[in-house]
Amino acid sequence: MTIRHFLQFSDFTADEHRWLFQRAAEIKRKFKNYEKYHPLADRTLAMIFEKASTRTRVSFEAGMYQLGGSVVHLTTGDSQLGRAEPIEDSAKVISRMVDLVMIRTFGQDKIERFAEHSRVPVINGLTNEFHPCQILADLFTFLEHRGLDAQGRIDPRALEGRVVAWVGDGNNMANTWLQAAELLGFTVHLSTPSGYEVNQDVAGLRSADSYKVFADPMEACQGADLVTTDVWTSMGFEAENEERRKAFANWCVDAEMMRVARPDALFMHCLPAHRGEEVQAEVIDGPQSVVWDEAENRMHVQKALMEYLLLGRVTD
Ligand code: CP
Ligand code: NVA
Repeated sequence: MTIRHFLQFSDFTADEHRWLFQRAAEIKRKFKNYEKYHPLADRTLAMIFEKASTRTRVSFEAGMYQLGGSVVHLTTGDSQLGRAEPIEDSAKVISRMVDLVMIRTFGQDKIERFAEHSRVPVINGLTNEFHPCQILADLFTFLEHRGLDAQGRIDPRALEGRVVAWVGDGNNMANTWLQAAELLGFTVHLSTPSGYEVNQDVAGLRSADSYKVFADPMEACQGADLVTTDVWTSMGFEAENEERRKAFANWCVDAEMMRVARPDALFMHCLPAHRGEEVQAEVIDGPQSVVWDEAENRMHVQKALMEYLLLGRVTD
């Protein structure tokens, strides 16, 4: 059997993503009703963190236990990864002992090399280039709020034709939003400070058809169904903190930006957030913000993802 990995959003087809959204809704329903559901009994997930995390750690660990499995948690500091054991050797060893691996690391090349030498599926828990699990959760959250059919079920087609305004850094989150737009038929209005633009090749896009670039973040937000942002300085780029503070000063999502978006626009942020930097408190703590649903949904979509990678399309 061919092993499937989830190293970037475009590793799955549009149809597979639509399946995951619907499956996540069912898995979330079971969780909310305290229904025991242990399809991954006796399976083990290794979680490898080379960068800090709160949500990714808790959502994968709690999610795996809820599915009946168990987890092994490794960091650079407490494993041989931090003492320069080659990533290929680590992949060969770890993947002989567990059923699934989640990695948070720096360069995308590193997770790709790990996956190439792994006997089991590998999931990207964030790299410098991509954060696909977060975008799965964000899209699922959007659908829960704005994409239910008459029976109250998730309709993944409700993403089509929507406008997402990205205000901020052309980073891992922005790249992944763009991949999702290309695959699922919505448009991203992209506004980044000069020098922090998205690189279409790094983002792995086929064309520029699914996004529009705006110098002014206010213009990017006009008519948007969703306004979203992220920290000015991502993990691994801390040395640039001061120059980024200056460059990003006008890229703070505020009430004015939300006012020019659609009246029913949502606000999202993958968190952790810095109030008064990339977003004003009145927005992230305001009525249009769905950031806590977004964080919780990490767990539900990742449970659907782990089930899919190990068992395929389960329908019970
Ligand atoms: N959004 C997100 O990935 O959060 P953590 O860095 O806390 O895992
Ligand atoms: N872009 C941020 C996301 C954190 C979840 C980073 O990479 O640090």
